[in-house]
Amino acid sequence: MLIRLAASLCFLALFGAPVFAEDFDLTKAKRTYKDFCSHCHGIDMVNPGTSSYDLRKFPADQKDRFYTSVNKGRGDMPAWGDILLPDELDLLWKYVVTRGGKEPLPKEEAAVPATDTDQTQQHGSLTTKPGTLTACLAKNGGVMSSRRAKGGAGLDYALVTALADQMGLALEVEWFESEQEEESTPIRELYALLAYNVCDVMPGFALYETSLSAFYKTRAALPRYDNKPAHLGPEFQVDLEPISVSDPYARMEMGVVYRTPEFEREITQIADMEGLKIGVEQGTLAGVLTLRQGTSKMVADSITANPGPDFLWKMEQGAFDAALVTVGAYDFHKKQNFVSTLALDEYRHPIGFNLSVAMLKSRRDLLDQIDPTINAMIADGRMAALAKKNKVTFSSPKEPWVQSNLTMEDILLRR
Ligand code: HEC
Repeated sequence: MLIRLAASLCFLALFGAPVFAEDFDLTKAKRTYKDFCSHCHGIDMVNPGTSSYDLRKFPADQKDRFYTSVNKGRGDMPAWGDILLPDELDLLWKYVVTRGGKEPLPKEEAAVPATDTDQTQQHGSLTTKPGTLTACLAKNGGVMSSRRAKGGAGLDYALVTALADQMGLALEVEWFESEQEEESTPIRELYALLAYNVCDVMPGFALYETSLSAFYKTRAALPRYDNKPAHLGPEFQVDLEPISVSDPYARMEMGVVYRTPEFEREITQIADMEGLKIGVEQGTLAGVLTLRQGTSKMVADSITANPGPDFLWKMEQGAFDAALVTVGAYDFHKKQNFVSTLALDEYRHPIGFNLSVAMLKSRRDLLDQIDPTINAMIADGRMAALAKKNKVTFSSPKEPWVQSNLTMEDILLRR
C-alpha cells in the first residue's frame, strides 16, 4: 500500500461516460413515465416546480414514501394504485431515482429484486445496514487482511471485529480485490467503495495529506468485490465524496531486512548498509530512499529488482544481502515461508504512515465510538497483542498523525 500510495499520486482521473441503466429497461420506464406522469411532472421530469413536485429532487433513500405517495395519491396528485401495475411502479421508481437513467441505482436497488418493495428504509442509522457494521477489507491485504473460508485473518480483520463488538453490532465484511495493475489507484478505489456505500468503514487508510483531500469532486471506478452486481462493469464510475478518518491504530514503517542474521550490523541510517550487497525495490518509496540516502558506492554496487512479493524471494535466493522494505512486506514473506532465513533489523526509517479507519464524512458520528475504542486498545496493549497474533510487527502510531506531502527535501534529508 505504501508503495502504491506514493505511485498513485500522479495518476489522472478518468472520466468515463457512465452507463447506469443496464439493470432495468430504461426505454420502458421512460414510456411509462411519459404516459402517466409527464403531463404534470414535465417531460424528462423537467418542470417549473410551481404546479407539481420536482421529481428530480425526490430523495433517493425514501423509496417507501415514493410507493405510498404514488399508490395512494398526495395533495393534488391522484392515486395511481389502481392504475399502475406493480412492475410499472417499480420502473417509475427506478426512473425517478436514477434521474432518468443519468445516475446509478442506490446499492439496495441494484442488489435486491425489484419485487422486494416492503424493505423498510432506516433513517438515522449510522450504518448502511442497521445493527451491522459493514467493513471493506482487501482479500489480498497481506498480514493486514485476508479472507478465510469462515471469516478472515489479519490485523485489520481483527480490528473491525473488535470495533463491531464494542459497538454491539454484527460484523459483515465486503471483501474486495485491490487491483494489482499499474494503472490502478488504490486510494481512489477506497473512496469509490465508501461513496457507493459498499461498506461503512474501511481500515488500512494511510494518513497521507494528499489522500485526504485530493479526490473531491472527481469520480472513480469500483474495484472487484465479492457481492459486486454483475452489471457494474469497469466503466462504471462513482462520484467520490469527502471522507473522515479515525485516530490511527498502527503505523506502517520501512525497515532493513537481511538475507540471514549473519549480515546484521549497527544501523542508524541507510548509509550504514554500505559494504553489504544492497537490493533496491524499483519504483517504491523504499527504493527511492535507498538510492537517495545510500552512499554512492553502495548505490553503484546495488541490484535493482521488481517490486512486490518476488522482491524478498530474490533476496532469499541470494541475489542481494540487505534491503530497505516495508515491514509489512517482510511480515508477509515470513508468514508464507516458514523456512525463510530473512531477518529484520530494529532500525526504522523515520518516514512512515499511520493507519486509520476511513468512512464517509456523513458517517463521522461513528468516530464517537471508534476513536475511544482504538485508543483504549493501544493503551492497554490489546492492539499489540492482536498484531502479534496475526504475525504483524507492530508499531504504535507516531506524531504527526498525518504525513504531509513528501517533498524532495524529505526524500533527501529525512533519515
Ligand atoms: C395530475 C397531475 C399529476 C400527475 C399525472 C402525476 N402527479 Fe405526481 N404530483 C402531482 C402534484 C401536484 C404533486 C405535489 C403533491 C403535494 O405534495 O401536494 C405530486 C407529487 C408527486 C410526488 C411526491 C410525493 C411526496 O411524497 O412528496 C411523487 C413521488 C410523484 N408525484 C410521482 C408521480 C408519478 C410517478 C406519476 C406518474 C405515475 C405522477 N406523480 C403523476 C401531480 C401529478
